[in-house]
Amino acid sequence: MTTDRRKIAAGNWKMNGTQADLAQLATIATVARGTGIEVMICLPATLLHPAHGMTSLVLGGQDCAPQPKGAFTGDISAPMLRDCGAQVVIVGHSERRALHGETDAVVAAKVEAAWAAGLTAILCIGETEVQYRAGNTLPVLAAQIAGSLPEGATAANTIIAYEPVWAIGTGLTPSTDEIAQTHAFIRAQLPDAGLSILYGGSVSPANAAAIFALADVDGGLVGGASLKAETFTPIIHALEAAHV
Ligand code: PGA
Repeated sequence: MTTDRRKIAAGNWKMNGTQADLAQLATIATVARGTGIEVMICLPATLLHPAHGMTSLVLGGQDCAPQPKGAFTGDISAPMLRDCGAQVVIVGHSERRALHGETDAVVAAKVEAAWAAGLTAILCIGETEVQYRAGNTLPVLAAQIAGSLPEGATAANTIIAYEPVWAIGTGLTPSTDEIAQTHAFIRAQLPDAGLSILYGGSVSPANAAAIFALADVDGGLVGGASLKAETFTPIIHALEAAHV
């Protein structure tokens, strides 16, 4: 369905990629040129500066510190990402929430930090398998939105990514009916109905078209399949075809 919301194919390279992989990125940049959708790649911070010249891609980080600078060894701030060419940053990814103990309050502070640096925040929310099986998906998402999305979100400064934790890297996805219902529910929780909502979790060339055809799905946040141009290209084209 065509709307005037932003249409976004976003790759999340996670802790993958060295300079040898810039050739993949260059191929993806060529594919992105002239598509009419936004193609974003959230890179390891080490690759942001080398990728800076690939202007058909929107470059992003995968996390940022809540503070702009200071004695936080090993952390990277939103202004630093911006300095290296990032325009967006993922915050609250389930791997950060689970492996680094990030609470909704910490995630909200990171969203504010991203905004303060002029970055668009890609805010991730999603239920665990236990929560899904217990039928608690919608209340879990409502609580995450209430706790981790600060006041002031607009379509320009925030993108929501719905990623069921049990679907990430597993090859499993909810049914398209479930995704449609969940995205409609998320939209109803947002302060601005114009925010883009991406689906993430095992998006692949095989399932992208069916997922992107859903009315409240404005694109995808893609992990494994974004690492290679061969698998990300058909996903980019599927989004383009769904929203011409
Ligand atoms: P996946 O990861 O596409 O490999 O499931 C998605 C994500 O974690 O953003």
